[in-house]
Amino acid sequence: MEKSIILEKVIFAESCDLEILPSVGSTNDYLKNQPMDIKSDPFLKIVIAQEQTQGRGRLNRSWISPQGQNLYFSCKKHFAKPVNELSALSLVVSLAVVKTLEAYITSGPLSIKWPNDIFYQSAKLSGNLIDIVSSSNSLSTVIIGIGVNINMDQDSGQITQAWTSLKKITGVEYDRNEIAASLINHLIEFFKEFEEKGFEPFLDIWKGYDYLFNQKITLKSTYDEGIIATGIAKGINAQGQLLLEKNDGNIQAFVSGDTSIMNLVYY
Ligand code: BTN
Repeated sequence: MEKSIILEKVIFAESCDLEILPSVGSTNDYLKNQPMDIKSDPFLKIVIAQEQTQGRGRLNRSWISPQGQNLYFSCKKHFAKPVNELSALSLVVSLAVVKTLEAYITSGPLSIKWPNDIFYQSAKLSGNLIDIVSSSNSLSTVIIGIGVNINMDQDSGQITQAWTSLKKITGVEYDRNEIAASLINHLIEFFKEFEEKGFEPFLDIWKGYDYLFNQKITLKSTYDEGIIATGIAKGINAQGQLLLEKNDGNIQAFVSGDTSIMNLVYY
């Protein structure tokens, strides 16, 4: 079984610079501090770490990243779009992750909790975190960080939500090289499509994975966790925004936020 990530010899459909680090605070932060040159940068500048000592999740949460067990992946990418046209990027990334991971799971479907959580039976398997590095009217540079729980089968109680891993689901240990290579291929394919055609081509695919559809949910701010809205999730629109049916029957679209299914109370 592999002990290290060795992807240097893999050939991808687009140019990729790949760096493997034994240990780092956060792969997203590491990439943020790398120099960039829009003219000469590859399609993707990728960093994968064997462990993260300060892995970050959304809402200032930590991403528990033990040595040699999971995938801690970030890539830097320039998009020829202003940042307001990238609001669906997290969904595109989630779809690339789900398409990668479902090849390894036969026991049941994966789903995506808008916008970025990959779930297997109500437990989180993967998440992504997008940091905007710079943006103008015609160009945005972003860092896309992806964490996938692969071979981790226990934690020391630091993870505060229900979680799972490929190994917990299937009982098998996985080669992270193979999964990382497949993820990179899916990201390249999906980013090219998104750059060319926007989110529209992904809309139908999303419908097959929508964890929240028809559920009563709460939407919280990603800044201060204040409640923005509650309602019934009714899928997403062509821009990837979440559609919520409010109490008055009106449907409203939301660009960002953190979602959770409201607990059912039985009397
Ligand atoms: C979330 O679900 O809250 C997002 C989790 C993102 C974790 C990944 S691991 C690689 C990259 N580096 C980080 O510090 N975070 C992302």
